[in-house]
Amino acid sequence: MNTTATTAASAASIAAAASHERQSPPSSPRMRAVTQDRYGNSAVLRIEEIDRPVVGPHEVLIDVHAAGLDRGTEHLMTGRPWLVRLAGFGVLRPKQPTLGFDVAGSVVAVGADVTRFAVGDQVFGIGSGSFAEFAVASEEKLASKPNGLSFEQAAVSTVSGITALQALTDVGHLEPGQRVLVIGASGGVGTFAVQLARALGGIVDGVAGTANLELVSSLGAEHVYDHRSVDIAEIPQRYDLVLDIGGRNPVRKLRRLLTEKGTLVIVGGENGNRVTGGVGRQVRAMLLSPFVSQRLTTFISREHHSSIERLAEYLEAGSVEPVIDARFPLDHAVRAVRRMEAGAARGKTVIVVHSPESD
Ligand SMILES: NC(=O)c1ccc[n+]([C@@H]2O[C@H](COP(=O)([O-])OP(=O)(O)OC[C@H]3O[C@@H](n4cnc5c(N)ncnc54)[C@H](OP(=O)(O)O)[C@@H]3O)[C@@H](O)[C@H]2O)c1
Repeated sequence: MNTTATTAASAASIAAAASHERQSPPSSPRMRAVTQDRYGNSAVLRIEEIDRPVVGPHEVLIDVHAAGLDRGTEHLMTGRPWLVRLAGFGVLRPKQPTLGFDVAGSVVAVGADVTRFAVGDQVFGIGSGSFAEFAVASEEKLASKPNGLSFEQAAVSTVSGITALQALTDVGHLEPGQRVLVIGASGGVGTFAVQLARALGGIVDGVAGTANLELVSSLGAEHVYDHRSVDIAEIPQRYDLVLDIGGRNPVRKLRRLLTEKGTLVIVGGENGNRVTGGVGRQVRAMLLSPFVSQRLTTFISREHHSSIERLAEYLEAGSVEPVIDARFPLDHAVRAVRRMEAGAARGKTVIVVHSPESD
């Protein structure tokens, strides 16, 4: 065949290949996931087949065994408070269409620059779009799953556990023998906070709803107060550290619970206004703090493997055990979110995707 004919034949075959590619692109592997294309309540959620995510250079791909539900996931679903949208999650619609942060599973692919994990490692931590069969996570936000911890336990631990740990230690500077009050002790963060405060040598009291007082006692709280019948102003004890996790009590009321040199850490609280979520309470506390003998502060948890590894030590030692109140398979994840919306959840809720323990 002469050169002209060869070139023509090659051109024809390239054109044919190109046209074939256009007609049937190489199909990406697919997966089931809980998705949303707009902000709203759980009615915006769908279970559908989508392309598997692709890892960036510092990310790993996780075969998700279980995922955890938390208030942050709900905020991302609703786009409320609006501050969440401005924090980079998408102003008009969510940039990340798949729901979920907390994750536990096995690594099935690693990005080119990943140094901490390899394919086959069992990990837990914070991913992106964990309510799915596969999710990506930055290697910086993952730790090795302790052997004694189930995937379900690991999946519900990171977001709430590191928040509680940082509130008590890095921010609250809890010392052994000090008295701690956990307001919102029966929820995701609170159930970790009560146990961690005990493990750190604190003497702990808790505030929760009527149905959950026994649970909070069983986690190690000495005195438990029912927020439905007791105003926090009626609590007789004074505390070295108050973690304010639920109820949105005003700063002046919270201050009355503190010793003269005590510390208030405002972790969060639902039902604030829809723009800022009521963050004015935190701002007021910070502004007032330099002028009073007590320390009034707040923080946003730092999502880094160093905190997850610290938490893992307590989980592995058994001094902290995640409180899993409900389990839902991936296909029923919307029911889990509805339960949280209705205020019926306590402790943590797990979405079981493909758990070897449940095989
Ligand atoms: N700063 C951060 O980095 C950070 C990180 C994670 C979470 N957060 C925030 O922290 C807050 C709590 O999160 P979570 O996951 O623990 O929520 P959660 O699981 O819904 O728990 C809420 C807790 O608040 C209690 N509560 C409700 N109403 C109350 C009242 N009037 N007085 C006292 N306690 C009341 C609940 O008690 P009952 O259910 O027993 O009634 C429950 O113990 C959320 O606002 C979340 O966004 C902040």
